[in-house]
Amino acid sequence: MDIKIAVLSGDGIGPEVTQQALKILDAISEKYGHTFTFEKASIGAIAIEETGNPLPDETLKICSNADAILFGAIGDPKYDNDPSSVIRPEQGLLKLRKSLNLFANIRPLITYDDLIYKSNLKKEVIKGTDFVIYRELTSGIYFGKKALSSDESVASDTCTYSIEEIDRIAELAFKAAMVRRKKLTLVDKANVLETSRLWRKRVIKISKKYPKVSLNFLFVDNAAMQLILNPTQFDVILTDNMFGDILSDEASVISGSIGLLASASIGEHSALFEPIHGAYSKAKGKNIANPLAAILSAAMLLDHFELFEEAEDIRNAIEKSIELSITTPDLNDKNHFSTTNVGNFIRDFILDDSNTFYNKGNIDLGQSTII
Ligand code: IPM
Ligand code: MN
Repeated sequence: MDIKIAVLSGDGIGPEVTQQALKILDAISEKYGHTFTFEKASIGAIAIEETGNPLPDETLKICSNADAILFGAIGDPKYDNDPSSVIRPEQGLLKLRKSLNLFANIRPLITYDDLIYKSNLKKEVIKGTDFVIYRELTSGIYFGKKALSSDESVASDTCTYSIEEIDRIAELAFKAAMVRRKKLTLVDKANVLETSRLWRKRVIKISKKYPKVSLNFLFVDNAAMQLILNPTQFDVILTDNMFGDILSDEASVISGSIGLLASASIGEHSALFEPIHGAYSKAKGKNIANPLAAILSAAMLLDHFELFEEAEDIRNAIEKSIELSITTPDLNDKNHFSTTNVGNFIRDFILDDSNTFYNKGNIDLGQSTII
């Protein structure tokens, strides 16, 4: 298969982890005879430095013409600490989501048995957790009317949802539930918000088409608590833009490291794949960032094009790296490996997974290799 991929590695650790994801996609294309072509473009703080614009027109054009987008990270402390800055790196990502109509953000969460001890939560609480968050991504309070009074004493952000915006993501979430454990939880604040009441009404209506899916509702405050009290109760979580943003960061605690979580943002004509960890600027350039989320994002990209065997190949290699502790410092305090070496191991494993043995001596020396 030929896939044209726009590569937006962005800020902070984005370039380092994206480089590993590209390495893995190259290995997959070599092994399975696909042609993946990569076109790089800039976004975020780096794009502001280069052009003054966090999403240059050229980048948007490259993304619109691509079959898929591989995204690294966005953000820079310089802007985070200055609320008065008018131009911000995040605007690039928000504009990209809106321009390409990437309305469904899909964030899967599983636990790995070998990493279960890494989580701050108790093993017996999190073992077996396997759910996916469907977060609406192009509307709600993120994109509603914003205002600041002229004397700057009052500000407002409006949360708006139309039934079309609710229906299209709800349909995707029900379809996902159908091929999973057939349980969908709508998370909202319907005891307070009008938008939430509209979500409930539409989701109940759509649920009639999916009688096999059991539907339940949770207020977001309760959902935040349930996520860490009893995460195995969830299968598909459907929620709006803001609630989904907050809950997915919270959920990352379950897996033991935010460096493990990948996401897909899907629209009608475009799809973007990104790790959810963000720029983590403190680690930039140190070759210590966990590349697994970026590599898992590449696997989600392959799933999107129905290259399921290839995606599974990547996931197996990742599991192996975790099993053998060929992992970065966030997952491995003692003999940790560099970002590049974790990527190399996964590549080598994919290219030569049969009949190999691991040179444990080399692994311990941090030289990740299969011979
Ligand atoms: C995310 C991020 C973004 C969001 C930021 C960078 C604008 O936190 O993808 O979750 O809030 O959506
Ligand atoms: Mn977020």
